[in-house]
Amino acid sequence: MIFKKCDSFYFTFLPLEINRNTLNSYSNQREMQNKITSLFKIKYPIVQGGMIWCSGWELASAVSNAGGLGIIGSGSMYPHILDEHITKCKQATDKPFAVNLPMLYPSIEEHIETIIKHRVPIVFTSAGNPKTYTARLKEHGITVVHVIASSKFAKKAADAGVDAIVAEGFEAGGHNGREETTTLCLIPKIAQEVQIPIIAAGGIGTGKAMLAAMNLGADGVQMGSRFVACEESSAHINFKNRVIQSVEGDTKLTLKDLTPVRLMKNEFYNKIEQSYVEQKDANYRAELLGRGRAKKGMFEGDLVEGELEIGQVASLFDTILPAAEIIKQVIQEFEEAKALQNSERFTF
Ligand SMILES: Cc1cc2nc3c(=O)[nH]c(=O)nc-3n(C[C@H](O)[C@H](O)[C@H](O)COP(=O)(O)O)c2cc1C
Repeated sequence: MIFKKCDSFYFTFLPLEINRNTLNSYSNQREMQNKITSLFKIKYPIVQGGMIWCSGWELASAVSNAGGLGIIGSGSMYPHILDEHITKCKQATDKPFAVNLPMLYPSIEEHIETIIKHRVPIVFTSAGNPKTYTARLKEHGITVVHVIASSKFAKKAADAGVDAIVAEGFEAGGHNGREETTTLCLIPKIAQEVQIPIIAAGGIGTGKAMLAAMNLGADGVQMGSRFVACEESSAHINFKNRVIQSVEGDTKLTLKDLTPVRLMKNEFYNKIEQSYVEQKDANYRAELLGRGRAKKGMFEGDLVEGELEIGQVASLFDTILPAAEIIKQVIQEFEEAKALQNSERFTF
């Protein structure tokens, strides 16, 4: 079969006389194959973002088994816990999976040793300088992806030799860029600036959004919030229920003087905001945050005093589904939306 490169996908090359409808039905039948599926050796260019307290081995293996790339979020794990999660993930899937290594947290050296020992094939680094660990990981044959939120850092990551980047827009849950660039503006800008594959993140939870991101220049998508409220996520059921009940405007980017993070509004969030009104300094907020807030909120289910990281897209969903069902729905919707692009709605 001959493949011809066309934006983010490789479409089957067909004779010119075949009309557009025929082309649609041919291309719907083809296997998705692009830079991201080839790089990770997966079926669909869908990545489940690494997420502290939410993405352990159950979620990562479920996503990988469903054809996406599952990621274990090591940020909330002690080294022996990460070891256990990798071991269980390898038992639960024979498909590729990754570990997310946020450079914010301690234990990073031990985590790297564990990743190398287990021959984890892919690492997503985030929240730090991509130069620090890329060469070392790649020496061990590991594919390295770095998460960025601006074109300046996209170029730095490409210069550091990473294999792909996650470009994460302002809508995203969790830690976020200070520039507040939305996914809609970030992806095309980064596509102009770097040649390596781009995985779009932030506000993506549906097949329509996936198609939009790929039309803007992404080669795949990373979804976080959509997988928080999923059966295999290790988030506390209180948090999952809060996520699916959320409405527009329930999240806000805050703590910009520490590490900017998008949170669900609650009593803890109100205390942070009040501290800005009272012009308290950053040390006060660092103390307020303490060490256990994220665990308290997302893992232990304290919806009042805990830190609840979630993205704007959460308000779109109202059901807790298995990961495989989410991927199936996203792909189905992606194909439907792609077919619609050739309909009269898009003809002027
Ligand atoms: C609860 C939660 C925890 C997260 N933790 C991490 C993390 O530990 N490391 C990281 O690189 N990104 C983290 N993220 C970001 C996700 O990996 C992903 O990029 C982001 O959620 C995508 O945007 P979305 O929330 O709009 O889907 C987190 C996101 C959420 C919602």
